Amino acid sequence: MFVSDCLGLNELGHLTIGGRDTVELAQAYGTPLYVMDENEIRRACTSYRESIQKYYEGRGLVTYASKAFCCKAICNIAKEEGVGLDVVSIGELYTAQQVAFPAERIFFHGNNKTVEELLAALEYGVGQIVVDNLGELELLNQLAISQKKKANIIFRIKPGIDAHTHDFVRTGQIDSKFGLALETGEALEAVKQALSMEGIRLKGLHCHIGSQIFDIEPFEHAAEVMLHFMADIKEQTGAELEILDLGGGFGIKYLPEHDPVEYDRYMQKVSETVKRTCDARNFATPYIVIEPGRSIVGPAGITLYTVGAVKEIPQVRTYVSIDGGMGDNPRYILYQSAYEAMVANKAAQPKSKEVTIAGKCCESGDLIGERMPIQEVQPGDIIAVLATGAYNYSMASNYNRIPRPPVVMLRDGKDRLVVKRESLEDLVRNDLL
Ligand code: LLP
Repeated sequence: MFVSDCLGLNELGHLTIGGRDTVELAQAYGTPLYVMDENEIRRACTSYRESIQKYYEGRGLVTYASKAFCCKAICNIAKEEGVGLDVVSIGELYTAQQVAFPAERIFFHGNNKTVEELLAALEYGVGQIVVDNLGELELLNQLAISQKKKANIIFRIKPGIDAHTHDFVRTGQIDSKFGLALETGEALEAVKQALSMEGIRLKGLHCHIGSQIFDIEPFEHAAEVMLHFMADIKEQTGAELEILDLGGGFGIKYLPEHDPVEYDRYMQKVSETVKRTCDARNFATPYIVIEPGRSIVGPAGITLYTVGAVKEIPQVRTYVSIDGGMGDNPRYILYQSAYEAMVANKAAQPKSKEVTIAGKCCESGDLIGERMPIQEVQPGDIIAVLATGAYNYSMASNYNRIPRPPVVMLRDGKDRLVVKRESLEDLVRNDLL
């Protein structure tokens, strides 16, 4: 009935998350409020880990892409779950360091890492710096030598897969700001240079084909392309790279009609493809890394808002204004992303209305969604927007000087604050006259 397993209904007809009444949580912490169910997050980690165990003899690592939702609490959960961590800035790395996240399980991404970021990664001993381009390779080599260290790297490669069309478009892949191109010879050149560099230890390759993908075929195809390249590298240089990182991108259920693939099936199919391709090329099966972000935290989160004005424009539409909006969820204004919403205090009632949920920013496009089916709604009601655990808090802003909401985490039904609500003082903290 609900888009996420952690959601339900109680005897009052209220929406629950992790078994807790959302209306009570809204009263206790105020709105807008992000609520996340830690049990759901841990279940997703377990499910990914088990699928690697089952289909790939455990020779791989689930690495949580922290850009989806980054704070100390989630880094600590990832640490406890034994998964890796994908970071893409010094800020995400710093957050990981705050919980003493094991450096060898960190992957440092980014198409334009600064000197400061590369030095921080070397200093912390990051297990995999994902090198994006030849300039970065050269810079990192120099920095590593100057620090009397060897940088452990994997290369980001553009495998040339268009995941969103079903059609494995083989042109246009060069037009991406991320990674090294295969067909121009740039990627092979980078590998050769890396193998000869004193400050560099090349461990493997990485690719990431997109996000919110529902099909398995593009992932299988990417694995094939990457493995052929690894086999070519072995033939041409003698180097046998040990890590193949296939990125993230697994789709989640935002709407009842979405039908994402089970994580289990993804690993089953990709493992088969990897083994088959390695067999064909007489190449040892690599250690596989996958980097899910959205599918680990997305379904575990909801956002709660209080309804203010309800504006019915006859023959046009009904605007329901909430006390949040694009500041805490910019995904509609950015991508016209679809969400399911419901009136949390009337969740058992039928959805008899269709409304536009509007935020409070001075911006007409500040909407959570249009034509959203919802229960009868009045000022004072609590609206829950579902599956907001990924790319909401992490992409939030202070536009219009609106403080960002807090994050409440539930574990076995017990609530705790993991990110405090921003205060007005927080908003002016860095201001100078
Ligand atoms: N690995 C790399 C290198 C990535 O760039 C990403 C996402 C991931 C892993 C995790 O992908 P996921 O499993 O979460 O799909 N802001 C957008 C999504 C941007 C994704 C960027 N990279 C959104 O709100 O939909």
